[in-house]
Formats: sequence, structure tokens, C-alpha cells
Amino acid sequence: MEIKLISNLKEQECDVLVVNQFEGEKTTEEIANKYAIDEDKFEGKFGQTYLLPTYGKQLARKILVVGFGKKEEFNPDKLRQATGKALKKAMSIEAKTVGYDYSGVDFDWAEQFTYGIGIADYKFDKYKTKKDSKVETVYVNASKESIEKAEKIVKAMKFSRDLANEPAQYATPSKLAEIAQSFGLDTKIYDKEECEKMGMGAYLAVAKGSSQPPKFIHMKYTPQNPKKRIAIIGKGICFDSGGLDIKPASSMLTMKDDMSGAACVLGVMSVIKEFSPEVEVHGIIAACENMPGCSAYKPGDILTAKNGKTIEVDNTDAEGRLTLADALCYADELGVDEIIDLATLTGACMVALGTVAAGIVGNNDELVKDIINTAKICGERYWELPMYEEYKESLKSDIADMQNTGSRWGGASTAGLFLKEFVDKSKWAHIDIAGVAYYDKPQGEFVKGSTGAGVRAILNYILK
Ligand code: BES
Ligand code: MN
Ligand code: ZN
Repeated sequence: MEIKLISNLKEQECDVLVVNQFEGEKTTEEIANKYAIDEDKFEGKFGQTYLLPTYGKQLARKILVVGFGKKEEFNPDKLRQATGKALKKAMSIEAKTVGYDYSGVDFDWAEQFTYGIGIADYKFDKYKTKKDSKVETVYVNASKESIEKAEKIVKAMKFSRDLANEPAQYATPSKLAEIAQSFGLDTKIYDKEECEKMGMGAYLAVAKGSSQPPKFIHMKYTPQNPKKRIAIIGKGICFDSGGLDIKPASSMLTMKDDMSGAACVLGVMSVIKEFSPEVEVHGIIAACENMPGCSAYKPGDILTAKNGKTIEVDNTDAEGRLTLADALCYADELGVDEIIDLATLTGACMVALGTVAAGIVGNNDELVKDIINTAKICGERYWELPMYEEYKESLKSDIADMQNTGSRWGGASTAGLFLKEFVDKSKWAHIDIAGVAYYDKPQGEFVKGSTGAGVRAILNYILK
């Protein structure tokens, strides 16, 4: 789909022309005012839509009024949601060309508009032999620069969503490595033997139960004069069966999505050159599967991470933090200024925050606040969770430095405290995207499936 900038929408032929209505106000289209508002009492409540044909009297074949709700309650998030909703409505009547004529909005909406279009337009239909109708062109009168920036971010989101929606049979650790190598970045893939030499005993233990070999991926984007050096790490469990502590069928069903953090990192790295930021960016993924094969690691095993710390395995289903432990040590040793990891890490985070907000913790207040604010502006929601020292108690092991699980209560916080043990000198933030990375039913602008969580926030953070 293409967004075309035009200055006069009234002179553009299209299948559907979208106009907005604030509650108690009129639209810019006389015929909508007459039939929808005056006759049919359409109120323009937020998210409501009203479709009316123009019977050849206008260049637009149909007009779609979208409710913006109360003007004083309107905001960029609502604009994005309403835009997505209108696009979905247009798709449902098989429109190919859609114009958007928004008026009376008193903030710069081009970026949120593009996110709304890009998110709602998405469908993972690669494996469908019959594809649904799609909108081909969107016409709008808005700032070129903002639209172009957001279009690149949307492209990265699509990349990320496609990858996380792929079944595990396709998106294997080797496939992720192959993809990482296709971006034309300075990329190194470490195989099992090389990871052994680096002392990645926690990560490699997780990989043991699978016939898919682990791949440790390091992509690097280097600008001329970097103002800052950042590492982004994505949890890359290509399938999480739980290992020997196997998951029940219903919990395993969506576990192909356990590489959503990795998909985010790959999405970001796929467009980084197009933005050419003055920030050095390292994309890191410790990719493997968590399977219960005959060589699988076992409850009670003691593992040694890259930084020498020992971990008693209490539960093989708490595998993400083990792979992240070694990835964090690796990133920390690079001597970057900041490390941000994204992981579908705990069901507990999902219980705490639902499917609207991701959890965030870190070792530096400023970094955490900065990421939360950036996320908010581009339409993602992150909520800080506590990492009180008291939670650490439950991570104690009798025979090793720690165990890989803490108390069931506050599980997202104990997972954060576990990860903290593997960051020494860098500023660090951890984003638990378990609840927001993959929807099991449509939510807002999103269809069922992967959401591309983290892509908007991380790219905007890098570009800031
Ligand atoms: N990948 C899961 C977390 C998850 C759960 C992500 C639901 C998305 C939706 C993770 O590896 C896991 O299994 N975590 C366990 C940890 C427990 C054993 C301490 C969990 O949350 O139950
Ligand atoms: Mn698990
Ligand atoms: Zn997992």
C-alpha cells in the first residue's frame, strides 16, 4: 500500500473519502452533515463510523464519517486508532483507494496517522491461497517528512510482525541468522562451538534439547561519528515448549512468538541504514529453541554464565532469562553506553499489566523514564515495575549463586532482578513484552497475531 500526498482531496477520485466528526460538530462534507448528522442523528462518538454513498455527485464514491469523540478528549492515540478503524471499514467494503480529509485537529498528526494506516493495513496472508482485498492507495494532505519517517518505521514493524507470525518450522535460529546477514551490516554469527569458547553456559544449556543448532547473532551499525553506543538485545527463543518442564498444550500454542524480541531487533536493524542515525547500534540475539529432546538440560542442573556466575536450574521453562544472561554479558563487554533488552519473558508480566502495556525495569532511572516517554509519544505503552531488593531473596540457591526462578508472586520483577546480575557497567533497561507482542484475538488497530511490539519505541528512541 502506498500513501500519496495531495493537497486537494475534493479533487481526487477515490472509493472512500474519510472525514472526521467531533461530537456535537459538523464535518467538512455537506452531504454527510445533511444525511448522517441531521437526518440520522450520527453523533460522532469516538470510533463510530457512518458510511454513505455519493451516487456520482462527487469524485469520492462513498464518504465515511469517523467519530473523533469529544474534542477536548481527543489525542494522538485516538487519532491513530480512528484512522485504523476507518481503514478497516474501507477494507471490509473492498475499497482500493481511500482519501483522508481530517479537519479541526490541533496537533501534528501525520506520524500517528501513518502508524494507524500501517498497523491496520497489516495481514499475515503468506500461507493463504486466497487473499483478502486490500487498500492500494491512501491519499492525504500532511507533512511529507513525518509521513516518510513513519512509513519506514511501519515497514520495520511489518518485517517484525511477519517474522514473529511465521511458524517455528520456518523461523529457526539458522533462519534468523540468515536474515540478520542480509541487511548489509557488519554481522557476526557465532555457532555452538564459538559460544562454548566464550563461556556461554546458560544460553547453550537451553539449546541442548533441540535438533536446531543455536545461533548467536551480532549485527552492528556504525555511523561516522557516533554520539552514543547502544546495544539492543531480543529474546530469540524460536519455540518455547517449556523444555522438560513442559508446558500444557494451551500455553504452548502461541510459543512460536517467543522470538518476538528478536523479531523487534531484526525489524529495527532492517531499516537502520535508511535512517543513518548518529548512534552506534548493536543488534544482539541469542537464538535457540527450548525443547525437551533427549539431550535437554534438566531441573537441578548447574550452569555457568559468561560472567562466571553459577545458576541452578529450578525450572526449564524459565529459559529466556538464561539465554539473555549470556547475551547481556556479551553486550556489557562491548562497553556500550546503554543496553535495552526486549523479551516475551514472563506470564507474570501479562497477569500484572494485561495486553495493553509492556513492563519495564532497569538499573538507571533516567534511561527507563526516557524510554517510557518515547514509547508513549509513538503509541506504545510501557509501565515501570519495581525491582525491590526484597524480591531477590527468592532467587537464592543452596548450592549455586542463584536459581533461575524466583517466587511466583512478582514474577516479572524477580525475572528483572535475575537479569540485573549479568549487567556490570552499562546502563540497562529490560522490557517484558509477553503481554503485548502477540494477540490471540484482534485488539484495536491490530489483527490477531504479532504486533511488532518495541519497533516504534526503539527506533524513535534511537532517532531522538
Ligand atoms: N515465554 C514464556 C513467557 C510467556 C508466557 C510469554 C505467556 C508470552 C505469553 C517464558 O519463557 C516462560 O515460560 N516463563 C515462565 C517462567 C516461570 C517458569 C518462572 C512463566 O511465565 O510461566
Ligand atoms: Mn518458557
Ligand atoms: Zn519463553
